[in-house]
Amino acid sequence: MAKDANTGAARFLPQDLTLESLRTAAACCEGCDLYREATQTVFGEGPAQAHFMLVGEQPGDQEDRKGVPFVGPAGRVLDRALEEAGIDRDDVYVTNAVKHFSFTLKGRRRIHQKPTAAQIAACQPWLNAELALVRPRVVIVMGATAARSLLGPSFRVTRQRGQAVPLGDAQAVATIHPSAVLRAPDQEEAYAGMLADFRVAAAL
Ligand code: URA
Ligand code: SF4
Repeated sequence: MAKDANTGAARFLPQDLTLESLRTAAACCEGCDLYREATQTVFGEGPAQAHFMLVGEQPGDQEDRKGVPFVGPAGRVLDRALEEAGIDRDDVYVTNAVKHFSFTLKGRRRIHQKPTAAQIAACQPWLNAELALVRPRVVIVMGATAARSLLGPSFRVTRQRGQAVPLGDAQAVATIHPSAVLRAPDQEEAYAGMLADFRVAAAL
């Protein structure tokens, strides 16, 4: 349950569920406090019949400005991993567990802030609706926030990454977040681990 004063995204969901109606409705979501400071809702993108769904944490600074998921530095890591794992971009729907950028100000810089469990829960109806509409066969769950949203609070990415686990009618594979690759002391090693997990997903 969301602990914010706002009661979550559910009441903003449209009656007629299509990806377009969802996107339009999500643009006006006030299901938690994150809409207040962020520029815009960053909804998922990709073909409605995608085989793969990729789920990240939340938009970053550049995604918040452009309104498109994974167009910043983490997106470049993601694009490289998709290509090297042999996953066709046209077969991928990309989204985030939380649809507004959460940040704190440090001077004029906007510093990424991890979304809270309440914010993840508040935003979950959008992700669930995307899953129900796209019906991907394989879901790549990137990082602890996406894992909490989709696989529950007791799922541990560090222990359970790179294994197929059931998620409704789909199979899910968890991996680290591409931003974690960029922050890792040994980036190449972290990237290789992520790529190995992508390859498991690609082979499903
Ligand atoms: N990190 C994410 O989790 N999602 C984005 O869209 C960008 C960076
Ligand atoms: Fe709504 Fe999610 Fe944005 Fe919160 S983060 S306002 S629940 S879209």
